[in-house]
Amino acid sequence: MTDADDLAARPSGMAPEDVEDVELDVLLEAVTRVYGYDFRNYARASLRRRLWRRVTAEGRSSLSGLLECVLHDPQAMERLRVDLSVTVTSMFRDPPFFLALRRQVVPLLATYPFVRIWVAGCASGEEVYSLAIVLREEGMGDRVRIYATDVSDPILDHARDGRVALDKMRAYSSNYLEAGGRDGLSRYYTVDGRWARMDPSLRDGVVFARHNLATDGTFNEFHLILCRNVLIYFDRTLQERVHRLFDASLVDLGLLALGARESLVGSVLEERYDALDTETRLYRKMGA
Ligand SMILES: C[S@@+](CC[C@H](N)C(=O)[O-])C[C@H]1O[C@@H](n2cnc3c(N)ncnc32)[C@H](O)[C@@H]1O
Repeated sequence: MTDADDLAARPSGMAPEDVEDVELDVLLEAVTRVYGYDFRNYARASLRRRLWRRVTAEGRSSLSGLLECVLHDPQAMERLRVDLSVTVTSMFRDPPFFLALRRQVVPLLATYPFVRIWVAGCASGEEVYSLAIVLREEGMGDRVRIYATDVSDPILDHARDGRVALDKMRAYSSNYLEAGGRDGLSRYYTVDGRWARMDPSLRDGVVFARHNLATDGTFNEFHLILCRNVLIYFDRTLQERVHRLFDASLVDLGLLALGARESLVGSVLEERYDALDTETRLYRKMGA
């Protein structure tokens, strides 16, 4: 088909890639309405890549074909949901961040009699257990409540279970030491087949719960919010929504930790936050 044929066939003059954009919008809208999974404001490029992977895997030839398939087959929807959710995580991910947490953030938190922390987008829990270890080693373990949330129920079940792949523990031990670990990571888990079972007492002050950053509101006031490697998958509109949500959820002088490739630069909230440490993406909300 020539461009001229294409134009004649579509009086709107839409190019094929624009038609695909419409298909993408319709697919995301339908998935939100039928299943309640709202990916509408996720970053388009990575969304498109993952959707096309599923088009091929489901033996379809277009996004509309994938739409038909997921609308009529909940299992296909589940496969799509899993593919669209990036849940990669690790213990003491970005060790310099956990070192800054230990050296710069904990002394600030220690000025409060009791501390509430929100870990948003906690995935399978490795970040939460790492945080609980740092707090315990710094003598704050019994003065903290951690709310660990994610949009995915299966991943939250995994997090509650406290299972970490044993073959990753060697790398995690080295992260832990680089992050200023005091005692050796092995004292915080027991071996169970191919799993490391995290010490259940690390979960004592932790509440795991479902929370969707795209649709849910604030549910408490926090002294520290960690949301690392989550906003990178959202478009600008959704990032702004989440920044506002965090702003409404932080006490004055509260702390916000973002991922290594995330920042408040360009956000409407940029002016209201001081960078505590730009290298490790730690921000402090200024007082009123
Ligand atoms: C790449 S993981 C990051 C895990 C951890 N924060 C870290 O840095 O290692 C992203 C997590 O964000 C979660 N997520 C994605 N969209 C979300 C949403 N709308 N609300 C809450 N969590 C979401 C995913 O389920 C996934 O577990």
